[in-house]
Amino acid sequence: MGFLSRLLGICRTRPPAAPEAWRYAQGSLEIELPRVQELEQPGGAVRLEGRGLPVRVLIVHGEDGEYHAFRNHCTHAGRRLDPLPGQPNLMCCSVNKSTYDYHGDKLAGPAKGPVDTYPVDRRGHLLIVDLSETG
Ligand code: FES
Repeated sequence: MGFLSRLLGICRTRPPAAPEAWRYAQGSLEIELPRVQELEQPGGAVRLEGRGLPVRVLIVHGEDGEYHAFRNHCTHAGRRLDPLPGQPNLMCCSVNKSTYDYHGDKLAGPAKGPVDTYPVDRRGHLLIVDLSETG
C-alpha cells in the first residue's frame, strides 16, 4: 500500500460488488455468502457501511479459515482497517499502521486499545453477525 494512500487513509478493502447481498435490522447483520465473491477465499474481506448500520463493519475470511467481524474503526484515530495478506492480523490504513489480531487485540502501533469484534454465526449460506454484542 502506497504512502499517499496511507496519508489519505484510503483502505484496500472495498464494499461488496453485490450491495444487495447484505442487510441489517435490529442488531443483526445478514450476509449471503454465495453472492459475496470477495469472501470466497481465506484472506478476503469486505467493508459494510451505511444503510442503517450503527457502525462501519469489516468482515474477514480469515487465514484461519473462519469468518471474523470487526468494528472498522482504528482506536488510534478512527481510520479503516484491512486484513494483512498471509497473516492472521489486521492493519490500519493510516501512516501509523496500528495492527490487531483476530481477537481485536492491539499488537503494535499507537492504537489506544482493542477494536471491537462481533460474534459471527454461519447458518448454511448465511453469515449472521450480532452487532448487539461486542467481544
Ligand atoms: S488511525 Fe490507525 S494508527 Fe492512526
